[in-house]
Amino acid sequence: MPDAKIVKLTDESNNRSSELPLVTGTLGPSCIDLGTLYRDTGHFTYDPGYGSTASTRSAITYIDGDEGVLLYRGYPIEQLAEHSNFLEVSYLLLNGELPKQAEFAAFEHQITHHTMMHESLKNFFQGFHHNAHPMAMLAASVASLSAFYHDDLDVDNPDDRRLAAIRLIAKMPTIAAAAYRYSIGWPMRYPRNNLEYVTRFLHMMFEVPSEPLMLNPVAAKALDLLFILHADHEQNASTSTVRLVGSTGANPYASIAAGITALWGPAHGGANEAVLKMLEEIGTPDKVETAVRRAKDKNDNFRLMGFGHRVYKNFDPRARIIREMCHKVLAELGVNDPLLDVAMKLEEAALKDDYFVERKLYPNVDFYSGIIYKALGIPTEMFTVMFAIARTAGWIAHWIEQHETPGARIGRPRQVYTGAVPRDFIPAAKR
Ligand code: SDX
Repeated sequence: MPDAKIVKLTDESNNRSSELPLVTGTLGPSCIDLGTLYRDTGHFTYDPGYGSTASTRSAITYIDGDEGVLLYRGYPIEQLAEHSNFLEVSYLLLNGELPKQAEFAAFEHQITHHTMMHESLKNFFQGFHHNAHPMAMLAASVASLSAFYHDDLDVDNPDDRRLAAIRLIAKMPTIAAAAYRYSIGWPMRYPRNNLEYVTRFLHMMFEVPSEPLMLNPVAAKALDLLFILHADHEQNASTSTVRLVGSTGANPYASIAAGITALWGPAHGGANEAVLKMLEEIGTPDKVETAVRRAKDKNDNFRLMGFGHRVYKNFDPRARIIREMCHKVLAELGVNDPLLDVAMKLEEAALKDDYFVERKLYPNVDFYSGIIYKALGIPTEMFTVMFAIARTAGWIAHWIEQHETPGARIGRPRQVYTGAVPRDFIPAAKR
């Protein structure tokens, strides 16, 4: 989009000023291009949480936090949730357009034929204790993929980048299921090419050698929908991490492994695991008022996990979809989870409380997802791994977009220095 108007900033203390162009996209706020600010005024900008900072141009995902809008390549998340599937959404995020039937068939064939991981990667798991957190095993295993594809991968070659995208989207379920099986002492299951993506994953997770897996199709449909909802979300912390690592020229496996570790934090993707632990800690609906009171108490570091969002100051559109799906899936699976009653009571209490209303703290994507994962038999420690499988599509789409952007530079923020002023070394005997 053409850069239009100019913003003039003047430092009246030294009368130095800077004329800064406005960068305008197709949707959303314009941005002030600060590229010449330091040269013109001698000042950096200061925005430690990046609350007012755009780090890049991107055509992949658009969010309107006030209106609760989420678009993947212009398509509303509600329509993709209703009509699409995770692999088709992955194609959309990567290529910018929904695939024609032949394009989707070719893409699905490529993914299906890259699901195996190198046999020696299986030995990798032997080095972990059985109680290792699956996110640690996932991050380490994905980083180790760099060792398998390092010498024949040129990040400046579009075909190499696309192959890395196929490999990562294809192998994440295999590695995730292997981590889970290792943690419960079960033998790893190989991916079955006759199954579609999510069903194949559930088989690798739950099939045991001694008997065939009787899988309820509701489970695969529910998980596919959760994967769609978690596939991308603009410049969130883990995606920004992938871009920062990618900006150094690091290979895609190392970049995505960095994204996995960033996602793990309870303020980000780790929140779904934290929500379930919080609901279990609250226990019953009559304890909800105490939880809400603690969440408001500045002397108590207890927070309502699954509430609040840096961007959404309205209901997270994904939370609306998941909330509705939660009731349907539990009913169809015949699961009666008392934690759902606690969650609903907690949501009702928080949405009526001034503290949450004033701060526009609404349920986010993580608030209800854990209840569905639990109903599908997925253990709590694997919840963020589910998030990582889905977000791999978004992460690698951003990594590729970044490498296709002409003139992209290494990310290197500055700082406000608050340390010691220059001083002379003091020999140890005189300290
Ligand atoms: C994800 O960025 C993305 O797009 C992320 C994500 C994605 O798809 O990639 O959407 C996925 O990470 C969702 C968020 C999951 N995290 C949680 O549910 C953890 C609980 N929520 C928070 O910790 C918090 O709301 C954040 C981290 C999500 C947002 O933090 P911000 O924007 O930095 O907000 P803040 O911490 O400055 O809070 C503003 C105020 C503060 O109170 P005051 O200082 O104004 O008095 O709101 C309060 C906070 O104390 N607050 C909460 C709260 N969240 C914020 N109080 C109680 N419970 C909460 N959950």
